[in-house]
Amino acid sequence: MDLATRYLGLALHNPIVASASPLSADLATIRQMEDAGAGAIVLPSLFEEQVRDEERLLEVLTNVGNDSNPEAESYFPSAMKYNTGSQGYLDLIARARAAVGIPIIASLNGTTETGWIDFAQMMEQAGASALELNFYRIAADPTASSTSVEADCVALVRAVRDRVRIPIAVKLHPYFSAFGALAQQVDEAGADGLVLFNRLYQPDIDLTRLRWTDDLALSDPAEIRIVLLWLSRLAGRLSRASLAAGTGVESAHEVIKYLLCGADAVMTASSLLRHGPAHLTSLRTGLTDWMTARGFDSVDTIKGLMRPSHPDAEPEAEVRSHYIRSLTGYRGPYVRH
Ligand SMILES: Cc1cc2nc3c(=O)[nH]c(=O)nc-3n(C[C@H](O)[C@H](O)[C@H](O)COP(=O)(O)O)c2cc1C
Repeated sequence: MDLATRYLGLALHNPIVASASPLSADLATIRQMEDAGAGAIVLPSLFEEQVRDEERLLEVLTNVGNDSNPEAESYFPSAMKYNTGSQGYLDLIARARAAVGIPIIASLNGTTETGWIDFAQMMEQAGASALELNFYRIAADPTASSTSVEADCVALVRAVRDRVRIPIAVKLHPYFSAFGALAQQVDEAGADGLVLFNRLYQPDIDLTRLRWTDDLALSDPAEIRIVLLWLSRLAGRLSRASLAAGTGVESAHEVIKYLLCGADAVMTASSLLRHGPAHLTSLRTGLTDWMTARGFDSVDTIKGLMRPSHPDAEPEAEVRSHYIRSLTGYRGPYVRH
């Protein structure tokens, strides 16, 4: 069975990729994920705020020591200085690249243009196989128009593209008013791939304590539908960007559906956090078994099989007709016909 695929211009021996999560912050787990069959691994994001906070903390601590003792440097363990700022992250990139043979994709979540560019360049120098730009922006400012939010995003992709040579993936959330147009602009700005989608943190309320909860719920397979919708619309229609589908993968079924809609790679975080790195093996086995049972011999033969046959012919009308059919065709125990 030939499971090989290309994502971001990189050759992957299979399309199942470990998405950014705390699992890939640990070298031993990175090795386990490679052994279990990951096609590539995305490291957790480096957040610009965290780096800046750590730099500020170190400066404050060092200054306090300087006032009280000229040998203040000795108060602070060298490891602290070493891991401060982005150094620990860059070190992780280098060690992960040395430890495994599969691509290691570094992930960046910046707040300033300088931050995005500087850290992207540092990650490239540290040896990352590719970069994932984690655009996690909620346009909560009512004076920020969708046009300006999208233009900022495209400008950042272009700015990073101009400064680094390694492939760039852009991870976006689906809540843009015209996602297709944005995807096209990001593609034209030089992205080598899009990750569909970023999963927004959505808060809840604890009714006993009357407090906002800040727990992070893992995903559910029902969440794949919004990804299937956009994936099937975009696959085969971008000029350079490949597509990774993420969110809601629990079993091989979701992996297969994403490939059928045209994904070049399929990412999972929640299923690995739930079941551990060895789950990658069952996802791969499930994919292989399904393909064998149906007589497919390579991932390329199933990729995009379920894409709409005429995506350019009145795309909105087609989606609208699905919508009307699903609403009017609804059958439930309390619905009389
Ligand atoms: C505990 C946890 C930590 C995560 N950390 C990151 C991160 O650092 N950067 C990022 O881009 N996504 C991060 N994600 C999001 C995942 O990479 C993924 O996009 C999302 O969870 C949807 O995939 P899933 O349904 O397989 O979980 C994290 C998810 C979880 C559950």
